[in-house]
Amino acid sequence: MAKNTSGRGQRDLKVKVKTARGRKLSSTRWLQRQLNDPYVKRAQADGYRGRAAYKILELDDKYRFLVPGARVVDLGCAPGGWLQVAIKRINALGEKQGKAQGRIIGVDLQEVEPVPGAEIHQLDFMSDGADDLVKGWLGGKADVVMSDMAAASSGHKQTDHLRIISLCEAAAYFAFDVLEEGGTFVAKVLAGGAEGDLQKILKQKFSKVANVKPPASRSDSSEKFVVATGYRG
Ligand SMILES: C[S@@+](CC[C@H](N)C(=O)[O-])C[C@H]1O[C@@H](n2cnc3c(N)ncnc32)[C@H](O)[C@@H]1O
Repeated sequence: MAKNTSGRGQRDLKVKVKTARGRKLSSTRWLQRQLNDPYVKRAQADGYRGRAAYKILELDDKYRFLVPGARVVDLGCAPGGWLQVAIKRINALGEKQGKAQGRIIGVDLQEVEPVPGAEIHQLDFMSDGADDLVKGWLGGKADVVMSDMAAASSGHKQTDHLRIISLCEAAAYFAFDVLEEGGTFVAKVLAGGAEGDLQKILKQKFSKVANVKPPASRSDSSEKFVVATGYRG
């Protein structure tokens, strides 16, 4: 049955995946969702490493923090979709003549295939001294700290929620140390209650704090993003 799911006026065939022997039902569901996800198809067509790229594109379209010349730290950067978007927008390759050239440092637990224009480091950001290492690589202030860090799902909603909040808190405290006045902090959180304290601190430190669910974030996920702009220093 043809179904228009792309939002780009194309007619896409809905792919049904049969449960194969040896494949868990959850994997079959994941595969079916991937095959029918318009953002996955767009990412392939646009050359992005993953559908996550559209989340930062949509957030930046709204809040405009990835400007030419910006110094950016991307925490949890694998496989590199956010890096690809940011590199273009901050002019990290110096392609936009007459515009300032930006710089981006990416950090992830996993190895990341190089992305021209980004400095990528394999590091557990929650390990002792990790923040000092990143500060050393940065060698000064940043205009944007963004974190899409997420631990692999434990299958227990509350545990996953607490884990993501601690990743988000670690990113926020790092941002407080390195952000330039007026800078922006963007991080993935999960709706679920325990993020209240972090919100309070962010509201003291930034002139505006918004909680956003970009269209590219799956509606069945409790993921949302906090975008804090105007760091007070
Ligand atoms: C949703 S993915 C990020 C996708 C990325 N924004 C992109 O556009 O390709 C989350 C990433 O967070 C990373 N991560 C989770 N915990 C981390 C930690 N403690 N330190 C560094 N990276 C971490 C994972 O390895 C994973 O690659």
